[in-house]
Amino acid sequence: MPAKLIDGKKISADIRKNLQKEVQELTEAGMKPGLTVILVGNNPASRTYVANKQKSCQAIGVESTLIELPENVEEKQLLKQIKDLNKDETVHGILVQLPLPSHISETKVIETISPEKDVDGFHPINIGKMMTGQDTFLPCTPYGILQMLHHEEIPIEGKHVVIVGRSNIVGKPAGQILLNENATVTYCHSKTTDLASYTKQADILIAAVGKAKMITANYVKEDAVVIDVGMNRDEDGKLCGDVDFEDVKNKAGWITPVPGGVGPTTITMLLHNTVKSARDKLVLRN
Ligand code: GUN
Repeated sequence: MPAKLIDGKKISADIRKNLQKEVQELTEAGMKPGLTVILVGNNPASRTYVANKQKSCQAIGVESTLIELPENVEEKQLLKQIKDLNKDETVHGILVQLPLPSHISETKVIETISPEKDVDGFHPINIGKMMTGQDTFLPCTPYGILQMLHHEEIPIEGKHVVIVGRSNIVGKPAGQILLNENATVTYCHSKTTDLASYTKQADILIAAVGKAKMITANYVKEDAVVIDVGMNRDEDGKLCGDVDFEDVKNKAGWITPVPGGVGPTTITMLLHNTVKSARDKLVLRN
């Protein structure tokens, strides 16, 4: 039997409907959620991601502002821009699109964003809160994965989650978030020897490597849940994931498509975090 599809678009639509209601309530209470995105330079992929984020904000009534800075902007100037936004009462979320040009320190940029407005969940304070299971902004891609698993009522507790890829944005926090849900987590990466020997043990396999169609059926256990975080172009220039969908769909129990899987849920959780930031501020004010 072919795998069941985890429809990230549909799941997102359900979550966004609820968020839209909450945005309306917050707006009526004088706390319209606002997200400011900073885009440095002209990376075409970043530009597309940012445009999608803006469009999604507008669709549910979140105030969306884009600040564009040239490729050669000085680090000092970018940090000053962030500090101004930290003080701006109308801004509840600040997102600096990564990657940044090499003359700018991503670490410094992330650490300059106020943890209360860090809707990416990248600030070390928020990472620490995530690790200790405290209330915080969870990084959007792994948070979206968690929502998809919950939505499909896929059990996590006691399951073996194998993650391929150890980025700060996806792999590492995905493991932590699922560990918090009582999964047993294995991290694999580019230096792992005999990758398939680990991935074949996965009840839930998360592919976040950035290599087109790398995960074939040989890497997957029968009936496993396969989550594809990849966003690549295949040999024909067509969008594809890290998973060879056509090969794996006949072996997996569940699978996320690309596009229409992890991508939409990532943006949905960015909206969720922005709304949460505004809500937390309203609670503090009242
Ligand atoms: N670049 C790729 N993914 C992300 C993300 O989730 N947040 C930011 N800020 N930049 C990214």
